[in-house]
Amino acid sequence: ESYDMGGHDTYMHKEIHEQADAVDRALRGRIDDRFSTVHLGGLNLDARDARAVRRVKILGCGTSYHAGQIGAQMIEELARIPADAEPASEFRYRNPVVDPDTLYIAVSQSGETYDVLAAVQELKRKGARVLGLVNVVGSAIARETDGGIYVHAGPEVCVVSTKCFTNMVVSFGLLALHLGRTRDLSVADGKRIIEGLRKLPGQIEEILANEAQIEELAKEYADAKSMMFIGRVRGYPVAREASLKLKEVSYIHAEAYPASELKHGPLALIEPAMPTVAIVPDDELLEKNRAALEEIKARSGRILAVAHQEQEKADHTIVVPKNEDELDSILMGIPLQLFAYYTAKAMGRDIDKPRNLAKSVTVE
Ligand code: G6P
Repeated sequence: ESYDMGGHDTYMHKEIHEQADAVDRALRGRIDDRFSTVHLGGLNLDARDARAVRRVKILGCGTSYHAGQIGAQMIEELARIPADAEPASEFRYRNPVVDPDTLYIAVSQSGETYDVLAAVQELKRKGARVLGLVNVVGSAIARETDGGIYVHAGPEVCVVSTKCFTNMVVSFGLLALHLGRTRDLSVADGKRIIEGLRKLPGQIEEILANEAQIEELAKEYADAKSMMFIGRVRGYPVAREASLKLKEVSYIHAEAYPASELKHGPLALIEPAMPTVAIVPDDELLEKNRAALEEIKARSGRILAVAHQEQEKADHTIVVPKNEDELDSILMGIPLQLFAYYTAKAMGRDIDKPRNLAKSVTVE
């Protein structure tokens, strides 16, 4: 993609619409149908190294940290390696225990975020193996790491990240599949995940084709002073990223909670003036999520659901196409990027350059 606006009013809108092509690029040339796995040329991790990994620790900031949270879940699910994500800034200041059997992954769009770079340098100094999951080729983090995956999102200009987030999560899906297939993920499951990955670009187009509905909904909810975002397990990091996106571009206060934690506090906030956006995938937690919607409805809360089928308890549902359970998180946040965009637009915000924020934070 060029820096040309191509008829879009903002880079955010343009970049949201580039996602099907961007995902296609992340997959291109990497799928190996013969062994139901993927080739990740720059990873610099042979099968023996991959099998020796006992833990995965993912480090990033902002949206990249959220991509890392989804990535950690994918790695646990598909490769059965304990994995978690942490803000790089927190990690480096708590004198972390650096373990030689842990694979560290630094996630960054720009590859220049100072807190991530400093965490990588500290890890390297202590002899850890660090990979990068980076967009900008040849950037500082790409150079400092032992190998990694370029996410191939193309240039991202809007301060808030959309297409790069999606490509990061897809890249984590590739990595999880690769690690899984060096371990106990079966050929049949490998094949199932590959088929799911291949469906993504078409399904992204389907979601974007629903733009008019999302625009209407955004106008309807733009009067809110504050919004709650909820999800469980796979849906929770999706809720966190969607809540961040809304605050960044619209300046509406938003917070994300696991739906299961509502009863331990946030339920006290629910009233008609505090709408909830709920991520409701058709997975093993569907009934639990529906019960959370009932709890909110019983307190007269307005609900916008993002789900694989209409939700009876919700005031509105944005229906997204179903993929494999392990890959649904890639798609469920996409309508909420448009939701944030149209909310900010209805409020007249400076969408590509929100106040007080920078695309890349290269100082501490
Ligand atoms: C800034 C940007 C965010 C971004 C974060 C990490 O805060 O405003 O959109 O997610 O930095 O940037 P990186 O380039 O490391 O992904």
